[in-house]
Amino acid sequence: MQNLDGRNIKRVLIASANPLFGKGLERLITSQWGLQKTAIRLTNTTVETLSALDEWQPDLVMIDYDDKTISRDEFMHQFGRGAQPMQVMLVSLQESGAVVVYDRRTLTTDQAQDWLNFSAAESQTPAAEKPSRRASMKHFSIVGGLVLVSTVLVYLLLANIGLLPVEASVQAQPIDKLFNLHYWAIAFLFSLIVVFMVYSLIVFRRKPGEDGDGAYFKGNNPLEITWTLIPLGFVIFLSYLGSIRLAETRQADPQALEIKVTAGQWFWRFEYPEYGITSDKMMMPVNQQALLKLTSVDVIHSFWVPEFRVKQDLLPGENLVKELRITPTIIGEYKVRCAELCGTSHAYMESPVIVVSQSDFDVWVNQEMQAFSADPAQRGQKFATSNGCLSCHSVDGSVSVGPTWKGLYGSTSTLADGSSLTVDDEYLKTAIIDPNYQVVQGYPANVMPKNFKDTLSEQQIADIIEFIKTLK
Ligand code: CUA
Repeated sequence: MQNLDGRNIKRVLIASANPLFGKGLERLITSQWGLQKTAIRLTNTTVETLSALDEWQPDLVMIDYDDKTISRDEFMHQFGRGAQPMQVMLVSLQESGAVVVYDRRTLTTDQAQDWLNFSAAESQTPAAEKPSRRASMKHFSIVGGLVLVSTVLVYLLLANIGLLPVEASVQAQPIDKLFNLHYWAIAFLFSLIVVFMVYSLIVFRRKPGEDGDGAYFKGNNPLEITWTLIPLGFVIFLSYLGSIRLAETRQADPQALEIKVTAGQWFWRFEYPEYGITSDKMMMPVNQQALLKLTSVDVIHSFWVPEFRVKQDLLPGENLVKELRITPTIIGEYKVRCAELCGTSHAYMESPVIVVSQSDFDVWVNQEMQAFSADPAQRGQKFATSNGCLSCHSVDGSVSVGPTWKGLYGSTSTLADGSSLTVDDEYLKTAIIDPNYQVVQGYPANVMPKNFKDTLSEQQIADIIEFIKTLK
């Protein structure tokens, strides 16, 4: 500060109609800038300032940027007549005590004219002027009204473009209520930000010839506290609502139909312990709560039917059985999909979920149970067909990918390692659940799926063996 442009400052002239401005700057200069030997003179009118400029010849002139009573035009005109270069600063003193220097330069007579033009242009435009309270309130009321209108419109848009599939379960209702509240919050926050921004872009855009600086702001504590506390309170309120809604989705019906759901890479299996039924599709009677007990045989999968909204991970491990309650409300066909990345066929891990009337459900249960109570060999044929066994093993002795099943039981098999054995129940069971353990000579290894241990129940494996026994 001592050497603004390499010269010592000996005389400083401070011009402002506000006596506090001069006193404040004087204190700053003497205490902080270490200019004790500098003479400081304060003036508070244009006339006084101009005469001080003439007779006192200051090295540095500091002009109150916010003071409109000092005519900068007139002042600069007079200033421009001086022979010697002079330093001029346009200074604003903030309430916080900060000093903002808007312009600072060393002027000679010929340069003064340019600055005069700049200052004149600036003083014509109200950009840096504080708008009156009334004008601000007017802007705020307009923006407030626009935000409200925009909030309603954005909400109606979100609520009507079908973001969610049909609401098909009792448990979906509390979740959709939360979604609805979120639509309002999203619509309001979007409007608050975008309407304020667009309004400012249009109403406060730079007008032709306006090239001054904007008003200086340094924080606003009440505003910052407000916009921190309100969202914080809202988020806490949402977590409270969330836990209430979550509890609603878990309300238990003691009459619930139990369905054991097993997931694996990559299949779904559904068992109805009450009826001893195992199925690859999930049948549900409408308006009756189903209690799903979910588990996985390998990695983490996730049970998700979007129309029912609720979702639950299936974890490997016998003591990690998870529960999910679903009361379907609309008859129809849905699809369960896996919602947890679980390997290369994750995207195709889908199975039908069919909601039927109670009477149709009873018919299905009867059919499944009849099929089950029939001859084991007949059941085995059914399972062998539905699990794809017969696409590789013929039943008539013809050559295929795997050994034919005709005459297999009781025959002697030669294995890849040269040893031989008699085909019995034990061998067939091992061959189904661990096909690479004893590969038959002349047939490739690693062709038969290795997950029949998981996809077939013990009973189904026994039935398939019974079926093989009949193929003499
Ligand atoms: Cu199972 Cu993704």
